[in-house]
Amino acid sequence: PSFTYIRHEVKDGIGWIELHRPERLNALNREMVKEIVMAMEAFDHDDTVRVVLLTGKGKAFCAGADIEEMADQTPMKMEVANQFADWDRLGLVKKPIVCAVQGLVLGGGFELVLSCDLVIAEEQTMFSFPEVQLGVMPGAGGTQRLTKLVGKTKALEWLLTGDRITAQEALQHRVINKVVQSEQLEEEAFRFAHTIAKQPVLSLRLIKEAVEVAQHASIYEGMQFERKNFYLLFDSYDQEEGMSAFLEERKPIFKGN
Ligand code: HXC
Repeated sequence: PSFTYIRHEVKDGIGWIELHRPERLNALNREMVKEIVMAMEAFDHDDTVRVVLLTGKGKAFCAGADIEEMADQTPMKMEVANQFADWDRLGLVKKPIVCAVQGLVLGGGFELVLSCDLVIAEEQTMFSFPEVQLGVMPGAGGTQRLTKLVGKTKALEWLLTGDRITAQEALQHRVINKVVQSEQLEEEAFRFAHTIAKQPVLSLRLIKEAVEVAQHASIYEGMQFERKNFYLLFDSYDQEEGMSAFLEERKPIFKGN
């Protein structure tokens, strides 16, 4: 499909999506969110893609939801539009999603980052939830996902003040995985994604699924779920190949099934 607000391409097993609405600092309108979700789902079903990489360039990775579009919303219009159903679909993507951020990561943009699996940021990146200053609050998972990651105290500090958080702080509080120098972001992001893309795809899938379950299940339920996924992998070619290669002291050649 052709998109208006994003660019996308498959490079070496990596399904790359770039937010591309430069005149609005990549602010997310509803159509743009739909495009991101559609591109992710297409990559999820594309056998040549093993990992998704989301990027956004310019002054802001993303300046948040489109305030112009949002300004005249009403509760009923939003109920009928059910726009957050698109966001929910992001959570159903089976392949790992790496996000590479720089510049400003605000509001809905921050929520988009929190919907990804792994995050790499350049050192000048600033994150914030400015919704409070607009008389609203996050609506695409921000209060929930941030609190799970950093705990109540820091989550409330950031959400109630709207203050900007540096990449180092975000790293320290486990919001992101890595901080790199600005000129290295793209290279490091592809390297990071590539390291994952080399792994057998079914392992990636079932590991991600099990970690997702850990977000909401009890430890007992989570352990049962993990165990079944572990068993399931013993029906894959790549398990046989991975273990035979080890025993024969050669490099495995994974097929993705
Ligand atoms: C619509 C936006 C926008 C946004 C920037 N623009 N952010 N338009 N929605 N979120 C537009 C500006 O209006 C401007 O348009 C152009 O992009 C360039 O922005 P400037 O403001 O001129 O740039 P600058 O002075 O450098 O300031 C950058 C900025 C500021 C600090 C990022 O634009 C800003 O504060 N933006 C709003 C950030 C925000 O509050 N985001 C949270 C939204 S609420 P023109 O036409 O003048 O060139 C949210 C809720 C999520 O995300 C709910 C769930 C989805």
